[in-house]
Amino acid sequence: MSKQFDVVVIGAGPGGYIAAIRAAQLGMSVACIDAWTDDKGGPAPGGTCTNVGCIPSKALLQSSEHFEHANKHFAEHGISTGKVTMDVATMVGRKDTVVKQNNDGILYLFKKNKVSFFHGRGSFSKAVEGGYEIQVKGAKDETLVGKQVVVATGSNARALPGVDFDEINILSNDGALALGAVPKKLGVIGSGVIGLEMGSVWRRLGAQVTVLEGLPTFLGAVDEQVAKEAKKAFDKQGLKIELGVKIGEVKGGKKGVSVAYTDAKGEAQKLDVDKLIVSIGRVPNTIGLNPEAVGLQLDERGAVVVNDLCQTNLPGVWAVGDVVRGPMLAHKAEEEGVAVAERMAGQHGHVNFNTIPWVIYTSPEIAWVGRTEQQLKQDGVKYKAGSFPFMANGRARALGDTTGFVKMLADAATDEILGVHIVGPLASELIAEAVVAMEFKASSEDIARICHAHPSLSEATKEAALAVDKRTLNF
Ligand code: FAD
Ligand code: NAI
Repeated sequence: MSKQFDVVVIGAGPGGYIAAIRAAQLGMSVACIDAWTDDKGGPAPGGTCTNVGCIPSKALLQSSEHFEHANKHFAEHGISTGKVTMDVATMVGRKDTVVKQNNDGILYLFKKNKVSFFHGRGSFSKAVEGGYEIQVKGAKDETLVGKQVVVATGSNARALPGVDFDEINILSNDGALALGAVPKKLGVIGSGVIGLEMGSVWRRLGAQVTVLEGLPTFLGAVDEQVAKEAKKAFDKQGLKIELGVKIGEVKGGKKGVSVAYTDAKGEAQKLDVDKLIVSIGRVPNTIGLNPEAVGLQLDERGAVVVNDLCQTNLPGVWAVGDVVRGPMLAHKAEEEGVAVAERMAGQHGHVNFNTIPWVIYTSPEIAWVGRTEQQLKQDGVKYKAGSFPFMANGRARALGDTTGFVKMLADAATDEILGVHIVGPLASELIAEAVVAMEFKASSEDIARICHAHPSLSEATKEAALAVDKRTLNF
């Protein structure tokens, strides 16, 4: 006997669980299926983000940052500690607790919002009168029918061709978040977001980290000036980043991993490391979904094809998050989840792709929204730029973290803010003001005229806005 729902959501990552909750809030009967299983065999909703992504990486970044502060910066404050040591098992255990709190939080939210949760793998079996039949294979097999279906099955780490992840020595993000000890030598392939964040964690804890990047430019999607400032800081920290390499044979053995590569000069090189993280992007995941059963269209990368409204080629079937086009970010997945739920309820859900913020949680943090200076040049847009260094910000000096700056780009004619780029302390939090400003189509003058608390890092944003008009007050 099948169970009938207005909506069946497949996947309980940030795209799926948020879509399920919002649909239930709007009065629909909702089922959400998720396959993720914890080490005791129980459900672990939250997807990549909660289990092996955003949340655990930030937990380890926090622990390793405390360690670095205790080792390198406490003395400046007059605090002496003696020898500071790191118990990796405790750090990883704390991370696991943080993950579990988030898994449990989602199960609680499902109960609160009357979303029926099914632990198992969901796959399309057929289209039926007024909907789609979905089989759940899990601890208890079930047959569900949804009038509408949301596919939110996320993504998986991309492996180098012919080099499988063993998660012991050749690691994806999964293994990189669960190391039992600090490796003496750590190799990272790909200087993207994961490479920099995970490389930073293990470098702070004492690993000698070498990052090998295929492209000749560092963080090509980031504003050039910001990328340059960040690179300078990473170099100073001892995070070795080699650009323009071509990876050759990767040989994993019991003792470690050997990576043959050609450097930017075309010379053959070899990197021997204890552990290797491969972070060269992610691929959309539809494993076990059985899209063929209903004729759900995928593109050549395996992503579910959707239009701007997240509608697939099938009536009543939607898809959101990492499994569709666009940036692979948790907050983008969530926004799409909300918008789809509202559209299913006949409302006008909305996602503004131009104001999705990006954050890289390294030290210094890197955050941006809108277009970079190089994109504006490419698009032939006339703009004014203003920046303000944290060195001239009182709060940053008191914090002891004066690296970086806030940079604002505004339209030369209308003064509308077109992009804000931050490298420095708490850039992840500061960027929210810029997102709000851009959503409200604010001008740089608007920000310059708003009272910002003193002393605060946000004053650097106000000063960057003043700098657009060449009238900073504190620099
Ligand atoms: P996912 O989170 O991947 O969830 C998909 C879920 O669907 C999973 O639970 C999966 O088990 C389940 N599933 C798949 N197929 C089926 C099926 N057939 N049946 C049932 N269940 C199924 N983004 C940020 O915005 N900020 C960050 O700081 C950040 N840090 C990251 C750090 C790392 C190391 C990684 C790897 C990613 C990070 N991301 C971050 C990206 C973020 O995790 C993803 O963009 C986000 O999780 C995508 O959400 P989603 O719901 O589309 O998919
Ligand atoms: P990425 O796309 O950020 O970076 C991959 C890097 O690997 C690129 O610089 C690319 O040029 C390089 N590369 C690709 N193939 C290569 C090869 N064969 N040899 C050498 N270099 C190669 O991907 P990453 O870091 O794996 O992260 C995946 C996604 O997860 C991110 O794009 C992001 O969407 C999400 N994420 C977001 C975070 C955040 O928001 N803070 C944190 C971590 C991940």
